[in-house]
Amino acid sequence: MKIGVPKEIKNNENRVGMTPSGVFELTKNNHTVYIQSDAGFGSGFFNEDYQEAGAVILETIEEVYSASDMIVKVKEPITEEYNLIKPDQVVFTYFHFASSEELTKAMINSKAICIAYETVEDSHGALPLLIPMSEVAGRMSIQQGAKYLEKPIKGRGVLLGGVPGVPPGKVLVLGAGIVGIQAAKMAAGLGAHVTIMDINMKQLRYVNDVMPNHVVTEFSSEYNIRKRIKESDLIIGGVLIKGAKAPKLITRDMLKDMRPGTVIVDVAVDQGGCFETTKATTHENPTYIIDDVVHYCVANMPGAVPYTSTVALTNVTLPYVIKLANKGWEKACSIDSSIAKGLNIVKGEIVYKEIAEAFNWETEVS
Ligand SMILES: NC(=O)c1ccc[n+]([C@@H]2O[C@H](COP(=O)([O-])OP(=O)(O)OC[C@H]3O[C@@H](n4cnc5c(N)ncnc54)[C@H](O)[C@@H]3O)[C@@H](O)[C@H]2O)c1
Repeated sequence: MKIGVPKEIKNNENRVGMTPSGVFELTKNNHTVYIQSDAGFGSGFFNEDYQEAGAVILETIEEVYSASDMIVKVKEPITEEYNLIKPDQVVFTYFHFASSEELTKAMINSKAICIAYETVEDSHGALPLLIPMSEVAGRMSIQQGAKYLEKPIKGRGVLLGGVPGVPPGKVLVLGAGIVGIQAAKMAAGLGAHVTIMDINMKQLRYVNDVMPNHVVTEFSSEYNIRKRIKESDLIIGGVLIKGAKAPKLITRDMLKDMRPGTVIVDVAVDQGGCFETTKATTHENPTYIIDDVVHYCVANMPGAVPYTSTVALTNVTLPYVIKLANKGWEKACSIDSSIAKGLNIVKGEIVYKEIAEAFNWETEVS
């Protein structure tokens, strides 16, 4: 199969859909891989690295789309790419169709086969192509939080690990899922005192079993949250209720109970945020202050660490890419139900009913 990897052209996107290691595996399987010139530059991979691994470098995005049977990328195609996508071409990437009617219509019109990373689902109902980005964001939340606790950038002036004779900082993590556990682990590693809350006792039992003693679990309730925020230096929001908006666990009035310079990082911002005062921010301007509380609410946190994010993402996408290339999309979907769950739009038809529902379209979904 001919597989194309275009350079991401969405604003500030530095990740790339395939590393040289992926090219190596695919060429070993007798496939041809076209990489757009400088596609990997933002993630630290150069044209020579790809060529050494067996790729053919093409100068323009038009050449990559035109030469390929399957396109592998990171972000959803943007307007400039719509007309480059051909009928029957497989496009394997994050799409998040429900958030864009324009994109959905464009992909229906393209008659391509759109397989979305975010709906590929394993046999336990987990979303394996979303997990690595939550891992990155969870770990990054502490790195960012520790930075914004510094006084020159309006934080409380607390060093999370403390020093001999000075107690460590206190971190409250809301949600003990992928984001929360990774955040708790990083904060504990810095020596902070960590409290992690969830409503799922199974998760809390797991955390209690695997984390060191300075990570304390507590059931998530308004009463407990109100009590803990008074003493916390850094608060991480990592809750998720699948398919729903995040619950507002920290309300505007609670900010007054926090000490000036407390930092709150809302990782759940992409689901509407779990703090009432959350507004999505960007890496150019990541924070704002309300009632002396520093808010960090960047919606694409992994974008700031493209090397780590690219490798983490492609580690999990590559086995699916290889299967799609070796078997063709129809056979791959018939033998692997995880990939079949990724099918969103096939040759002009929506095959994932939540997309039609998102726009109230009365489409018959097969
Ligand atoms: N900002 C970013 O760049 C970025 C990156 C990756 C993920 N995310 C987002 O982070 C959020 C968390 O993702 P995840 O992968 O950790 O999800 P997850 O499903 O693994 O974990 C969510 C946890 O929240 C818990 N929860 C639900 N209601 C709660 C409540 N009232 N109190 C406490 N805990 C509660 C759940 O029981 C679950 O354990 C999602 O919204 C995800 O989209 C954001």
